[in-house]
Amino acid sequence: MTNKIEKNLKFWGHNCFSIESNKTLLITDPWFSKSGAFFGSWFQYPKNHNLQDDILNLINIYDDVNIFISHEHQDHYDKRFLSKVRKDATILIPSYKDKFFKNDCSSLNLKVIEIKDTEKVYLNKHFWVKPYISHIGINHDSALLIATDEFNFFNQNDCKIFDRLKEINEKIDYYSVQFSGATWHPSNFILSSKRKKEISSEKVANKLNSVLRGVSELKPKYFLPAAGPAIFPYLEDNLSYGIDNIFIHQNYLNDYLKNNSINNTLYLEPGAYLDDNRIKPIEPPSCLKQIEEYKKDTIDIWQQLDITFDRSLLEKSIIERLERIQDIDIINAPVLIFNFANKFDNKDYLNKNKIFIDLSNKKILTSFEYNLPFEEIMAEKKYFALMHSDERWQNVYLSLRAKVLREPDIFNNDLNMFLFSDVENIRENFILTHNISNERVEIKNKNGEIFEINRYCPHNGADLCNAEINSDNYLICPRHGWKFDLNNKGVDKLSKTSINSRKLS
Ligand code: FES
Repeated sequence: MTNKIEKNLKFWGHNCFSIESNKTLLITDPWFSKSGAFFGSWFQYPKNHNLQDDILNLINIYDDVNIFISHEHQDHYDKRFLSKVRKDATILIPSYKDKFFKNDCSSLNLKVIEIKDTEKVYLNKHFWVKPYISHIGINHDSALLIATDEFNFFNQNDCKIFDRLKEINEKIDYYSVQFSGATWHPSNFILSSKRKKEISSEKVANKLNSVLRGVSELKPKYFLPAAGPAIFPYLEDNLSYGIDNIFIHQNYLNDYLKNNSINNTLYLEPGAYLDDNRIKPIEPPSCLKQIEEYKKDTIDIWQQLDITFDRSLLEKSIIERLERIQDIDIINAPVLIFNFANKFDNKDYLNKNKIFIDLSNKKILTSFEYNLPFEEIMAEKKYFALMHSDERWQNVYLSLRAKVLREPDIFNNDLNMFLFSDVENIRENFILTHNISNERVEIKNKNGEIFEINRYCPHNGADLCNAEINSDNYLICPRHGWKFDLNNKGVDKLSKTSINSRKLS
């Protein structure tokens, strides 16, 4: 016997939910496109394309329609879908410091309203929303607290503000957060398969640990995993299976939650209302045949791209960015290499099929002898052609259609910011990240020892006051899981950054 738990909250796939209350409709992050996201690399799983007409019909029933878009990534901000929405709907977006998203939304010809961090906005007398915004450097994202007379729903989607959950005083009935990975590391990196598995399992463990912290902190009546996983039908098929990579599926999450005594998870299929029968995780595709089946009514955007590579235009884009950060001190950044020969060959040290970028001195080099640290991105010319067109560089990298070789294998925050910024925001991103406050705080580990540390994480400025310290005396950042070794001056060994820890007693 199935009991419908909530008749006014419906799941539509990925991070899309509809909430109906007193003649008002709210929809979050509708993503229905048949061409996926990031140049046809990421696709909704399970498929929800067949529901597009249903949600448009629902939109047409209501007089008051609000669509909240959490951030600009294409799996949350589906412009093709939004172009079909009736023109009197209101788009609600977080008020990010960087106005790229707001400006881009203007092209939709819909009314766009920005909401500030923790600003409570009433959609009607009984229905309000409040965003929690994270915006520093290249990371823009937001969570949304949704309150009706019947329930409170905290939709954290892929926003990593685990360090801010203590600010939420409302009792949470439903909680949703991303549990599967969403970056190009390590899947696109040239590493041994053993090392890839190690990195992936560490990243997955961090992510699941964050989910567990969220559930433990908010104590929802029900946990609703969402905002992933995606599948990748046009890329290497093993990415879609969720095995030995960061793109895990619900079966993996379910085992983890059960092992940690979390038994209130509902696994919703697209198109489902909440009911207490939905306790079985959705299995990933299990074979190539299923992936081929999935492809049938999708569009392969990558194949259809008709774009010509022009080296001088790419150099111009690089130089434009370097000029914007000319006076910013960048120390010890690896040499960044764009390789359009589509093969790795470090004997090829001249610049025929490569561009060598010296970030520290803000210039393009004529040659590089591979005798210093470097990070090399290798892809077909079409990929680099996108980078000199109007496309955002981060969308190109998120296509996952490059291979990356970095030696040594150390994450560099400056290089990452250079890669993932737009021309318009690159300067601001560097300034904000280089000026993360170095306020000091005292923290206590499990043995009662007291350490003084930098309060804010050097990566993206998470507040470390409430960070977990594990039994090996590593402080784990609540946002992306960097591990700072309190026994070794607070250094994170993967990025070589530090929170300058000092033992007090
Ligand atoms: S903010 Fe990203 S690891 Fe700390």
